[in-house]
Order: sequence, then structure tokens, then C-alpha cells
Amino acid sequence: MQTLLIILNVEIMNFELFSLLQDIPQGQLFVLTDSHTKEHCLPIFADFIGEIPYHLLTLEAGEKSKNLSSVQVIWDFLLKHRATREAILVNLGGGMITDLGGFAAATYMRGIRFVNIPTTLLAMVDASSGGKTGFDYQGVKNMIGTFTPPMATLIDPIFLRTLPAEELLSGFAEMLKHALIASQEEWIKLLQLAQDELPQAQFAEALFTTGALQASIAIKEKVVAQDPREAGLRHILNFGHTVGHAIESAALENFELRIKNFELSPSHGYCVLWGMVAEVYLSVVKLGCPREVLQQLTQVMLQYYGRPQCNCRQREQLIQRMYQDKKNSANKTPNFTLLRAVGDPVINQHLSEEDINEALEYLFSL
Ligand code: GLY
Repeated sequence: MQTLLIILNVEIMNFELFSLLQDIPQGQLFVLTDSHTKEHCLPIFADFIGEIPYHLLTLEAGEKSKNLSSVQVIWDFLLKHRATREAILVNLGGGMITDLGGFAAATYMRGIRFVNIPTTLLAMVDASSGGKTGFDYQGVKNMIGTFTPPMATLIDPIFLRTLPAEELLSGFAEMLKHALIASQEEWIKLLQLAQDELPQAQFAEALFTTGALQASIAIKEKVVAQDPREAGLRHILNFGHTVGHAIESAALENFELRIKNFELSPSHGYCVLWGMVAEVYLSVVKLGCPREVLQQLTQVMLQYYGRPQCNCRQREQLIQRMYQDKKNSANKTPNFTLLRAVGDPVINQHLSEEDINEALEYLFSL
């Protein structure tokens, strides 16, 4: 494993970036953004690096860009500007950019170095660390990819100021997931934070000043350090994702999932939040997880994330999508990570379609 730096301070980030990038040969610094981060985050990055020249590639923002054609566009960009094995690709953006850029870098010339600078809360707490790279294929999220750690992940909360409320909520869902799999103490802290700060403009600031952001990153880092290639334990980070990914893939394909307040596809974190509601329901029914946890999560959902709606036929289609989940084994029903209690996750729970349907019924009846 290469060095992974997690920097949570603007001055240190400035310094680290500078020393990381200083020794690159002329013309070998490449920067990948999307159309949003080009506008809102690239000026901050450009200030950090000062006079160091770089080649810039910008992709259309949004999950729809996370495909093989975009990977080819990145390879072509590197090739056109004669990137060598000494090159560094800086991925400046959310999870779509860090996953895609990471994959392109991991495969170009059998691998060049890359640095992730996540600009969304979701990417800060999840996508930018842990070494997963990849893209969506044949309607399945992250179907093709590698485990390749970045040479560094540089996190600066300054970028949180550029985010709309929906993006903050999307990332907050992954933080709730980390708390649910890690400890009752973190879970209660986040519920309190949601209660006190979520409607306020200073929510982004509070994530950092209360230490909640740092704690969430540390939970993921600890799991990844023990199981970097997801042989077993790392499946706990997939809590909420068996149902969540099915909803997200379906929504991406214009599946008629009626979701209040969403004209476009809901973002990943919202789907994970809804997935967690269904999977906590299953945890209560199958493993005796305290019902109070389901009530607390349902309350957060209703207050901040809204209700997805879906009819019986669509529920059946969602279940079929769960068979494409990467945790599955051949000839088995979909595989879930469930909770015996907060902080006590259990992997490899194969559940019947009847059980899954019951959980979806709960979710879609709220
Ligand atoms: N997002 C889950 C993981 O990195 O394993």
C-alpha cells in the first residue's frame, strides 16, 4: 500500500500539495475536474499550487458520466499530452471524479500515480479513500474497477462551503452508515448533530468543528486497513447498499420511482439512506436489532430525506437488481450486511425474496 495522507487543514494541505507536486517533470501534472468543480473548486486548487503548470480535463458533472467512454476520454487526454509513468493525475471532485480518474490512472501504462482531492462530503468520508476505483457498466453501479490506493487523499473542509444542502445530506448519509456500523456513541452524536445543526447554514462548519467528519473518516480507514481488498470484513461498509444500489441503478435508468422533491436522479447518499431504512428493518426482524434504531433512522429520513415511492411490480424489479450486487455468491439469494445492534454489524446474510419484499414494503409505505 502506498502512503495515504489525510489532511484536514488548509495550510497543511497547501504545503503538502506543494511538496508532492514540486518534483514532477515539466508537463507531467494532469488535473481532472467536472463541470461543477471546474467552476467552484479549481480556483481554490489553482491558488494552492501557484505557478506549477498543469493540463486540465473537464467532464460533464453527474453519475451519467461515470462510464467507459469517459475513461477513454481520460486515457486519450493523457496520451495526447504525452503522460509518462512519472505523471501525476489530480482528481479534483466528488466520487464520480475520484473513482473514474483513479481507474484511468490505475490502468494507463499499467498504472500512474494519482492524488484525490475530494470536494463533496460524500467523497471526503467515503469514495476518496480506501482505494476503490471504477465506473458503472451495463446499468450496474461500479461494476468494473480496481483496488488501487491513491498516493494521497487531501481533504480540506474549505470545499464543503461550496456545496448545496442536498450534497451535504448525501454525504451525511454515509456518515450515519459509519456510525451505525461502528458505535452507539458516534450514532448518538450524529443524531444530536442532525437535530441541532442540520437546518442551519453552519452545518458544514459543525461537521468539522465537532470532529464528526474526522471520526467518520477514521472509521472507514480502520476497516480498510484490516481488509483492503474486501475479502470479508470490509463488507460492513456496504451496509444499506444492497437496497441502496438497486434503487440508485433503477433511478439512473429512468425507472419510474416517484421521489418527492427530485426531478433528476437522487444522489447516492439518499439512496443509501433509504437502503439503510430497509436494511435496519431487516436487522430488527432477522437479528433482533433494537426497534428504537429503526425509529431513529426513520425519523431522520422523514425529516430530511423524503420518501421514495414505488409500486409492487417495481419492488420486484428492485429485488432482481439486488442479484447483481458485488457481494453475492453464485446460486444464492441477495447478500446483506445487517446489524445485531448499533456497532455490531454481521456480514453475509442471505435473505429470501419474501423477507426483502417485506422490508421494501415498510420503506415505501412511510
Ligand atoms: N464504499 C464502501 C467501501 O469503500 O468499501
